[in-house]
Amino acid sequence: MSSKPTIFFLGATGYVGGEILSLLNKSHLPPPAARSSSGSGSDSTTTNTDLGRYHVIALVRNVTPEREAALRRLYNSDDLEILEGTLDDGDIIRSAAERADVVVSCAVSIHGESTKWLTTRSKASGGASPPILVHVSGITIIADDANGEEVADVKEWSDLDLDITKLPPTSSHMNCEIPIAEAGTRSNYPIRTFVLYAGLYWATGVQRTSAWLGPWIKHAKDAGFSGTYGPGANALSHIHVRDVAAGVLTVLTAALKGEVKGGKGFNYFVATSKTEQREWAKVIGDVRLLCSNDSRRAHLEPYLLHQYLYSKRLIEEPGCRPWPEGIIRPKGTRAYWRVFGGNQIVHPDRLHALGWEPKETQKQGLLDILPQAIDVALQ
Ligand SMILES: NC(=O)c1ccc[n+]([C@@H]2O[C@H](COP(=O)([O-])OP(=O)(O)OC[C@H]3O[C@@H](n4cnc5c(N)ncnc54)[C@H](OP(=O)(O)O)[C@@H]3O)[C@@H](O)[C@H]2O)c1
Repeated sequence: MSSKPTIFFLGATGYVGGEILSLLNKSHLPPPAARSSSGSGSDSTTTNTDLGRYHVIALVRNVTPEREAALRRLYNSDDLEILEGTLDDGDIIRSAAERADVVVSCAVSIHGESTKWLTTRSKASGGASPPILVHVSGITIIADDANGEEVADVKEWSDLDLDITKLPPTSSHMNCEIPIAEAGTRSNYPIRTFVLYAGLYWATGVQRTSAWLGPWIKHAKDAGFSGTYGPGANALSHIHVRDVAAGVLTVLTAALKGEVKGGKGFNYFVATSKTEQREWAKVIGDVRLLCSNDSRRAHLEPYLLHQYLYSKRLIEEPGCRPWPEGIIRPKGTRAYWRVFGGNQIVHPDRLHALGWEPKETQKQGLLDILPQAIDVALQ
């Protein structure tokens, strides 16, 4: 077993997980509190060059030599252990979580069973300090039920006011949010919990494309046009995938330094700006609308000849209009309609307070990135 502190990582082969793992590899994290205060402890064999290095145990299903090699390119091979298993393997998850100083969970933010196993503890962790859990969730937790319709006085949320336990029980992800909130506040074997609620992320990353963009394009192809859930008048905050990864590292570093405690009040939005659903749907449908904006023309010019669904004749009409229910799930299918048809406008005030800035999103906004992201998703 490695003498280095340990991170148990769920979702390493995923879109955001790959970015987080890659950033972890380039980062030097402080040691867990119990180890740094003792000055030696189980780290007695650690050398100077090891400082800031963590041993990562990645839970991976369907391990193949190719998948393993891809992960070893992202994180220093000597410090990476592949643990074969799925989110349904309770014994594997419980045992790895119990051994870890830090758990990074960015696999499936609605997988209640695995979250329960990550957050239950039958004994105190090895060190004097409670272990840390950093969990990636989504801003859908605060989505309204606009179903794409215009709504008067749309609420804009700051994470400074966010108390998960006060959200309606019908909010998304509660099967995971509540056990995490409970683990962060209980007196017996508490865990220092930190949850980052990400907006939709789009940019092409290590894993090339966001999980939801492929199905969106498929709906457009099936319908013959780019569409919306309802009229598409709702707005969302969004974020570049690398800014989500940077947010995770910012919070984890602050947690390890003891600058943030964890538990109630340590929930972070990771998304900026607001974009109407029909704005991005229109870009997917018809680049020419976007190109009437001269400031974007130069950036998009290289894509004009071969990009986009309409210009590729993969769909029959430009622009966008509401999709019929035969194409998407029926209205009222909460998870789907909330993700795309709900208002989700957030302000990441807590992350800003830790010094995080959405640097990649500022360089390339959602509508700028979409052409490239669609092209990659089509390959
Ligand atoms: N994409 C977005 O815009 C967005 C926005 C906000 C929040 N989120 C949330 O963030 C999380 C990660 O999103 P993502 O876009 O990175 O998703 P993703 O690309 O689909 O990655 C999911 C990861 O979880 C793993 N996984 C899924 N089911 C598993 C199972 N049963 N057992 C073991 N591993 C499993 C996948 O492994 P395989 O490689 O084997 O499939 C992959 O590593 C999700 O919970 C999502 O709800 C996403």
